Amino acid sequence: MKKIIFSLLLVSGLINTAMAVEGNIEAGKAKSGMCAACHGANGLSASPNFPNLAGQHADYIAKQLKSFKDGNRTDAMMAPMVAGLSGQDMADLGAFFASQPRSVEKSAAVSDSPTSGNQVAAAIKFVPDAAAGKSLYELGDPSRSIAACINCHGKEGRSEVLIYPNLAKQHAFYIEKQLHNFKAGDRKDSAMNQFASALSDNEIKNIGAYFSDTKAVANVKVRRLATPSALSENAIAGKSKAAACVACHGVDGNSMVTAYPKLAGQSASYIAKQLADFKVGAASNGQEGRSDPVMAGMVIALSEQDMLELGSYFAAQKSTAGNGSENDLGRKLYFGGDAARGITACVSCHGIKGKGMPEAGFPAVAGQHVEYLAAQLNKFSKQTRANDKNGMMRSISKRLKKNDLAALTQFMSSLK
Ligand code: HEC
Ligand code: HEC
Ligand code: HEC
Ligand code: HEC
Repeated sequence: MKKIIFSLLLVSGLINTAMAVEGNIEAGKAKSGMCAACHGANGLSASPNFPNLAGQHADYIAKQLKSFKDGNRTDAMMAPMVAGLSGQDMADLGAFFASQPRSVEKSAAVSDSPTSGNQVAAAIKFVPDAAAGKSLYELGDPSRSIAACINCHGKEGRSEVLIYPNLAKQHAFYIEKQLHNFKAGDRKDSAMNQFASALSDNEIKNIGAYFSDTKAVANVKVRRLATPSALSENAIAGKSKAAACVACHGVDGNSMVTAYPKLAGQSASYIAKQLADFKVGAASNGQEGRSDPVMAGMVIALSEQDMLELGSYFAAQKSTAGNGSENDLGRKLYFGGDAARGITACVSCHGIKGKGMPEAGFPAVAGQHVEYLAAQLNKFSKQTRANDKNGMMRSISKRLKKNDLAALTQFMSSLK
């Protein structure tokens, strides 16, 4: 399903992560001569210091080449390689490497990690656990806001979404190196920076160990989400406490007043976080957390448990259709962002259907009132709402022009 949606978008030119230029495989092959020394003639590199490019998504390759050129991603070896490349060259190179098969058989000649005396010494201290890496990859860790990697990078690293790189059969050493780069902030991507900074160095080694041979690791049990029909104990307890909220947010969390957000179908953890943030905001006179005069009064007496129960209750309700309408500009920005203006595609965090990613703290926006969404984007851009981790929404919202904002809020509200 995901794959279909994304290829449709691609065909209609809606995903413009890097450039709208069409790549040519033959032309790319001709231009790839200088890449072969490090990445291999057909994109399979013999050294784990150099990433495999074969079978990677063409758009992703072109986007990275552009990032190296713009200086958004820095690497001493790649910088001179891209200096003379045009947008057309990048698209051609992307098309060529994407067309090559990524069929690396494990061979003795290609060792997956360069071994030095230090690494041998370190390996004695810590033995990476591939099964733990797989489990983290497939389940994430909601308690630390690490989304399940599989949601974006796909089963065993075969991503079906063209803006997310394939990790399958990539050198494990390279994967670890990139996670360290994201963790240190040397490579920038707001979602990846959040997840990687929560990973310990040993967890990064575990993930590397998993990717050194994904087939060798037994299946992990994937947690099943509770069926929405069976209300959890927390949700039942939250129902009676919600009496104080219904005047504004509606009995079932579907408020009638567009200035009051719908809470139905929003994730429990996001609701609980907002309630805690409002409390911090009230206590710090708006210096920290999230500040709103109305909500400040509502949260004073709430305990952490109350917040969780209220969140669970509203999360279990069904959201009604929003008051926005579908439109081209909104759809284009939501799914494709605007690389030239540094606007990250909203889909990468708020999801294909606008349902958000609960485990990462990314809220649902589908069906929300247009007016409320607009008010929040304005607050983020004026910094009067600043409870978004790493300033992810503040930096995106200040790049939106008035008509972008209008189109996006209409579009998000129309999502079901
Ligand atoms: C001298 C060695 C060298 C040459 C030649 C070279 N590269 Fe690279 N390339 C690297 C290194 C090292 C990295 C990893 C950088 C990092 O760690 O962030 C890289 C990374 C990349 C990436 C990012 C891959 C990913 O998975 O994110 C792309 C795309 C790429 N190179 C394309 C090219 C192309 C196209 C050429 C030829 C025009 C080329 N490279 C020539 C060394 C080289
Ligand atoms: C919300 C979607 C999302 C989730 C969840 C996610 N990633 Fe990523 N990841 C991305 C995007 C987007 C990029 C490319 C960033 C860029 O354009 O430079 C990326 C890049 C990477 C890269 C670099 C690949 C390369 O070829 O250079 C690695 C490694 C990686 N992610 C590992 C992980 C791991 C491990 C997890 C789980 C802890 C994870 N990702 C979770 C979206 C995601
Ligand atoms: C008098 C009206 C009113 C009442 C009663 C009220 N709220 Fe609110 N609530 C608001 C307004 C207005 C906002 C938007 C604040 C802003 O613009 O930042 C809001 C925002 C929120 C948000 C943030 C939603 C989001 O998408 O970020 C949550 C969660 C919330 N309220 C929960 C509750 C709960 C739980 C109760 C009951 C304990 C409650 N509210 C009672 C008016 C009210
Ligand atoms: C890197 C992840 C990321 C991206 C990309 C992103 N968002 Fe967000 N967004 C968040 C997070 C996290 C929050 C909630 C912050 C908090 O904890 O209060 C949020 C909150 C919001 C809210 C407020 C929701 C509410 O219920 O109060 C709106 C509206 C929104 N984003 C719109 C957008 C739009 C439009 C785009 C694309 C132009 C976008 N976002 C891109 C992570 C992201």
